[in-house]
Amino acid sequence: MKILRIDSSVRIQNSKTRMLTDYFLEQLKNHKKYSLKSRDVGIHPPNFPTDEFIKANYTSEKNRTQEMKNILTLSDILIDELTNSDKIIIASPMYNFSISATLKAYIDNIVRVGRTFELDENGAMKGLLSGKKALVITSRGAMSYKNGEILESFDFQENYLRALLNFIGITNITFVNTEAQDFGTEDLKNSNFEQSKKQLSELAKIW
Ligand SMILES: Cc1cc2nc3c(=O)[nH]c(=O)nc-3n(C[C@H](O)[C@H](O)[C@H](O)COP(=O)(O)O)c2cc1C
Repeated sequence: MKILRIDSSVRIQNSKTRMLTDYFLEQLKNHKKYSLKSRDVGIHPPNFPTDEFIKANYTSEKNRTQEMKNILTLSDILIDELTNSDKIIIASPMYNFSISATLKAYIDNIVRVGRTFELDENGAMKGLLSGKKALVITSRGAMSYKNGEILESFDFQENYLRALLNFIGITNITFVNTEAQDFGTEDLKNSNFEQSKKQLSELAKIW
């Protein structure tokens, strides 16, 4: 089993998403053999798309100049990492009710026609990464983002990532969301964190 781990917190120490992802991978070792490829877009963010990037992307492969190929090099590497993996773990902090800009830059590099999705002649879209599983580990400073709670409509993180992964063909997705990591009481913070660890150790038995 080949796992791709994508970190996207800009925090290096005391990052909850990094800690929970480390914890999950440790737990998983007790149940499965796996190889791991890590991609840290929090610390090493890919470039935002540019005019040149878009032109290169929309030029067919056989017509691309060497310069265009060079512009797409990192994007190609990132997509190869995804296609070569069976399972993907995304560690995603909530920033301003959505994902980090670094994760968005990564997404803008990997969502490419002909590589991760395609359109048929009727304009219907098809994701090309089917058959893979994803686990998304999120952390939020505040609480009350769950179904029916006061901040539910502010959660543009889970819905967005679910839609995006579906779009590129990944439909088997588990979310483990940890709340109250900055604004709750110490007790609430710790109990939410421990609850996520429990969920992750159960998931490790079957993932
Ligand atoms: C730039 C920034 C924006 C944030 N925006 C939100 C937010 O909109 N809602 C929220 O609940 N927490 C927010 N937080 C808190 C983080 O979600 C929280 O610290 C989380 O633990 C970050 O993940 P990490 O610990 O892996 O870095 C924000 C933190 C930062 C640094």
